[in-house]
Amino acid sequence: MQVKKAVIPAAGLGTRFLPATKAMAKEMLPIVDKPTIQFIVEEALSSGIEDILIVTGKAKRPIEDHFDANIELETNLKSKGKTDLLKLVEETTDVNLHFIRQSHPKGLGHAVLQAKAFVGNEPFVVMLGDDLMESEVPLTKQLMNDYETTHASTIAVMQVPQEETSKYGIINPEGQVEKGLYNVKNFVEKPKADEAPSNLAIIGRYLLTPEIFEVLENQAPGAGDEIQLTDAIDNLNKTQRVFAREFTGKRFDVGDKFGFMTTSIEYGLKHPEIKDKLREYIIELGQELAPNENKKSE
Ligand code: G1P
Repeated sequence: MQVKKAVIPAAGLGTRFLPATKAMAKEMLPIVDKPTIQFIVEEALSSGIEDILIVTGKAKRPIEDHFDANIELETNLKSKGKTDLLKLVEETTDVNLHFIRQSHPKGLGHAVLQAKAFVGNEPFVVMLGDDLMESEVPLTKQLMNDYETTHASTIAVMQVPQEETSKYGIINPEGQVEKGLYNVKNFVEKPKADEAPSNLAIIGRYLLTPEIFEVLENQAPGAGDEIQLTDAIDNLNKTQRVFAREFTGKRFDVGDKFGFMTTSIEYGLKHPEIKDKLREYIIELGQELAPNENKKSE
């Protein structure tokens, strides 16, 4: 069966970005000029996904508005002949988007469970909004390609420094079936750094078989007293094979302030409108900062 559906959990409270996220969805925070969630939707579409469910919560209405037509704005841009901007605005409306609200934020596993009726009895992908991926073949597409041969759930992972393993779901790999595709003994959510079974971390792209829902329905709360997707995947792996695909492209973590800033800079350095000015600015800033750095080391 072909994978056609994606689920994007977007119900988190965004506490790492307070006060900006007090009344605004963190998924709408822009990298240069594009809300982070639009990058995720674009990855889904370029992978061949046809239907997307966004699991939302409080203060998330702007996400729905963002992907809806804005007739007033379109008319205004048209009358002023701003065709480039018009194109940017219209681009966002050509997607089959569905929304469901997660009334109680009980964890990522619980958010994914809200997609049960939408997904039905099909394999599907889960895409987390905190991770932006850059690679020749989109990561979601890579997982879909794997599924065509394995017909099994496959979780994207990436090497991270050992001391950062406690921030992620970590796999305990058990040999590779082909280059970069691992058998997995077990999955652990946010282990202590010295107890992590490897440094291969789950990075926010999952291809799952629909049996995950049955597991999620019976999943007890885990780390942080939340229903964890990683725990459910670990249980699924006991009844059917779950693979891990190692991602070798570039990952941008926009889930915290530092990652958000560095991603903004890197994307800015590629943005046709500002890249030259930004580059000059960074070079000047570096020269300004360098004497201070030298003083420090004296
Ligand atoms: C979630 C998952 C974790 C995964 C991470 C990737 O954690 O629970 O397994 O490694 O996303 O970004 P969160 O970052 O929401 O705490």
